[in-house]
Amino acid sequence: MKGIILAGGEGTRLHPLTTAVSKQLLPVYDKPMVYYPLSVLMLAGIREILLISTPRDLPLFRLMLGDGSRLGLSLSYVEQARPGGLAEAFLLGADHVGDDSSALILGDNIFHGQAFSQLLRAHSRDVDGCVLFGYPVSDPERYGIAETDPAGNLLSIEEKPRAPKANQAITGLYFYDNEVLEIARRLKPSARGELEITDLNRVYLDRGRARLVKLGRGFAWLDTGTHSSLLQAAQYIQTLEERQGVRIACLEEIALRMGFIDARACLAEGEKLAKTEYGRYVMQVALDHEAGSLTTAHPVAF
Ligand code: G1P
Repeated sequence: MKGIILAGGEGTRLHPLTTAVSKQLLPVYDKPMVYYPLSVLMLAGIREILLISTPRDLPLFRLMLGDGSRLGLSLSYVEQARPGGLAEAFLLGADHVGDDSSALILGDNIFHGQAFSQLLRAHSRDVDGCVLFGYPVSDPERYGIAETDPAGNLLSIEEKPRAPKANQAITGLYFYDNEVLEIARRLKPSARGELEITDLNRVYLDRGRARLVKLGRGFAWLDTGTHSSLLQAAQYIQTLEERQGVRIACLEEIALRMGFIDARACLAEGEKLAKTEYGRYVMQVALDHEAGSLTTAHPVAF
């Protein structure tokens, strides 16, 4: 399975924060926002990942993440010259996807929950059709909304409905089989001239090939769309990290635990950031993983 992170858009709802910089590069407590969706793809076991952003912002993402090799990943980059809709990712990313299945995640989506990695791996295996992930929200008019029958089968999908039929938002994580490339190619632009992800998902629904996986209330799917919700997301991360002493979406730790890099490489990544708590945490993770056979000259206490 190939991964795509869509980190385009002008972030107008977060101006002036985003007047000069991409929303997905803003901090969410101790790391840039895009770390969180990137960590989700990594937890799904995906290593070949394409990041799509605007011509203005793409160089900054490249500067930050490089070719991904330090995390055992292969990262590539494509520009979205103007806002063409979320489904345009499959026109821009067609070569990257090739004849494989794909996972699309929006660069501003933050997920957190127990056993998320197992859930992701279970649903990304042998994708047939499309898999959408639902989450209950109190403000359904702001999202794509999924209506289901009592057995959980999808009945309808609507984008930002004025009168929502349900409260299950369709989150910004989507798994597709290879047909997505052809469906995206045939998609007609919406009234605002964009290729809408909801229209693409509706094609799968009409063919009886769309499934909804409900993320229960034990999961967190955090909003970053307003100044207030962005601050709340940061506070959520801070609260859990400080309480538990573990980090959420620490890419080096995930790369180590997924077997993408070894402990020595993880330690070296931590040492580069040894002046920060983040770096010392990465070093500690590497040392604990090896239980005694690795050493470092840097102080690791944090
Ligand atoms: C987009 C999708 C919407 C989905 C949401 C999830 O909306 O169009 O269906 O629920 O992402 O983050 P946007 O945030 O671009 O308005």
